[in-house]
Amino acid sequence: MNPDLSQLQPYPFERLSALTRDIEPPPALTPVVLSIGEPKHATPAFITEEVITHLHGLSQYPTTRGGTALREAISAWLTRRFRLPAGSIDPDRHVLPVNGTREALFAFAQCVIDRSTSPLVMMPNPFYQIYEGAALLAGAQPWFLNTVAASGYLPDFNGVPEDVWSRCQLLYLCSPGNPTGTVQDIPGLQSLLELADRHDFVIAADECYSEIYPDETAPPPGLLQAAAAMGREDYRRCLVFHSLSKRSNAPGLRSGFVAGDSALVDQFLRYRTYHGCAMPPPTQAASIRAWQDEAHVVKNRALYREKFSAVIDILRPVHELSAPAGGFYLWLKTPVDDCEFARNLLARQNVTVLPGSYLSRTAHGINPGQDRVRMALVAPLEECIEAAQRIKSYILSL
Ligand SMILES: Cc1ncc(COP(=O)(O)O)c(C=O)c1O
Repeated sequence: MNPDLSQLQPYPFERLSALTRDIEPPPALTPVVLSIGEPKHATPAFITEEVITHLHGLSQYPTTRGGTALREAISAWLTRRFRLPAGSIDPDRHVLPVNGTREALFAFAQCVIDRSTSPLVMMPNPFYQIYEGAALLAGAQPWFLNTVAASGYLPDFNGVPEDVWSRCQLLYLCSPGNPTGTVQDIPGLQSLLELADRHDFVIAADECYSEIYPDETAPPPGLLQAAAAMGREDYRRCLVFHSLSKRSNAPGLRSGFVAGDSALVDQFLRYRTYHGCAMPPPTQAASIRAWQDEAHVVKNRALYREKFSAVIDILRPVHELSAPAGGFYLWLKTPVDDCEFARNLLARQNVTVLPGSYLSRTAHGINPGQDRVRMALVAPLEECIEAAQRIKSYILSL
């Protein structure tokens, strides 16, 4: 077997089920699960219908590059959403469809890393677990950038030693962040691009939460936008990852895209041709419609806004917290150890949350997820309100 497999850590949900295996929650309380970041709002009917209408497309092999109409719809969306210079995203050279960002974030490391030179892959800590697994299986060493209160819950690039930068080949960025919800601003993205030039690495910007944000007039900026604003219209060293899972409540569709540097897209296409992960034709057809429509995304954001406002109103008297700049998580500080908090919350209130330390590693002397839990506000409003009231009672009992 590939010896690198043994380096993979148990997934956070495996650890959570081991942590809570012996607990018998109070049967009188209906279970509320806030631990999983799976969108629960209804998939828009026009997306589902488009899949059904195009099922006859199953008679053909799709191409790895995806159809022109899909790449054009993606390029138009990106240009509109991030106000990119017209024509700077060529659907033929800068865009590739992917079957959800998870597989693409993983596969990209396998494509980019040169394992002959002791490579390093940087990532935020806590982080979406795929980044670490991708780095390890690509033969690279993960390097964790703690995202803590002192750095505004953003990765702190200032403290990275020169010899570490010199080994960095790939940096994963997650904005809005999972689990912190923090957004990297344009100047921050531009300084990162300067670092990428200076130290010769590629940035994989995971922007899969970019369409969930509180203020309709202030959408989170993206890496391509920051690059274009500094005249970097070839998007060199940049690849952004976008998904319909959260934006359009279609996690089962498995549809997203990567876009950016044409040289990276070209090599990634080459890799994917062998990897064998073309997007099925009905999925392509539904994705075209989804990227062309914004009305359902605006409605989706309104639902999250309602939930954040209700939950924060309930919890604020007992706990200091505020709505995140993006995404659908609350990254709650716990008054006791995070695992103990999660265990007892389930045992007493039948509410499941994810211990923060399961999403992070001990690095530079601390585990930045310690004494935090992640709550995904994905359930319907009434369920989120019920959960918030039970969490409030639980916190008051501590
Ligand atoms: C930060 C982050 N990136 C990527 C993904 C993968 O999403 P998908 O593969 O559905 O596009 C997730 C899913 O939870 C996520 O939280």
